[in-house]
Amino acid sequence: MKELVTGPDLDDETLIAHYARPARPTLRVSFVSSADGAMEIDGLSTALSGADDKRVFGVLRMLADAVLVGAGTLRRENYRPIRLSPPRVAWRRAHGLPDVPTLVAVSHSLDLDPAMPALADAPVRPIILTSSGAHRPDLLRVADVVRFEDQDLLSPVRARALDQILCEGGPRLFGTLLAADAVDELCLTVAPVLAGAGASRITAGPVSPPRDMRPAHVLRGGDHLMVRYVRRHPSVDRAPTGCG
Ligand SMILES: NC(=O)c1ccc[n+]([C@@H]2O[C@H](COP(=O)([O-])OP(=O)(O)OC[C@H]3O[C@@H](n4cnc5c(N)ncnc54)[C@H](OP(=O)(O)O)[C@@H]3O)[C@@H](O)[C@H]2O)c1
Repeated sequence: MKELVTGPDLDDETLIAHYARPARPTLRVSFVSSADGAMEIDGLSTALSGADDKRVFGVLRMLADAVLVGAGTLRRENYRPIRLSPPRVAWRRAHGLPDVPTLVAVSHSLDLDPAMPALADAPVRPIILTSSGAHRPDLLRVADVVRFEDQDLLSPVRARALDQILCEGGPRLFGTLLAADAVDELCLTVAPVLAGAGASRITAGPVSPPRDMRPAHVLRGGDHLMVRYVRRHPSVDRAPTGCG
């Protein structure tokens, strides 16, 4: 494991080195949690975040082909269209990538407002993955709506050559992906807060067996700790090698 890197060094260059774009298709999940394991305070993750966590959040988006998010998070967290700063767009262009990653929302009900900015103002046409046969022609004006079967929600994304997938939550989507054994990495920020009882964990939904992970690094930004866990595999170490 790399040594603990502290605050002043956490510029984009340092973060790119630590979260390097994996060489093979990867599902990376990103969450922030309180020190006692809460994933929200008053229903939002905002109070748990900090300046360096936000920088990691932005760099993870810069490194991704697709940003996957559950409909609950999309609705609750008032998602904005994905936009990157000019230097990050320049980095992507230099690496042969489109200016921004594609937003991929996951919903069973398709209870999504086509006017929500994350969809209506998206710089790249979003994809909505659904497990239902619900008919919502109004959503087709702003997004591709793609049906997936048997919880295999990554196949339609990978079929579009969106290999590096960043999942930004929420817990029910994460629980589904864990149950499908699809998660390669967890990028977890631990906030210096004790939220107390009542708040939910970062996983919910179907029960799945424990998966062994190993920490690839721990970064310290202010009083936040940013840990990158990669999948520990009995025979093959699935830790992606960097090419960023
Ligand atoms: N701490 C953090 O880093 C963080 C990150 C993200 C979210 N959050 C918090 O998480 C909370 C929201 O929780 P949530 O459980 O509602 O989030 P979620 O997992 O984003 O959304 C759940 C919804 O996503 C859709 N969905 C998820 N998995 C699906 C599957 N396998 N098949 C079909 N549809 C699927 C369904 O949408 P439909 O209802 O449309 O059918 C489901 O109701 C908020 O409080 C938010 O602040 C925290």
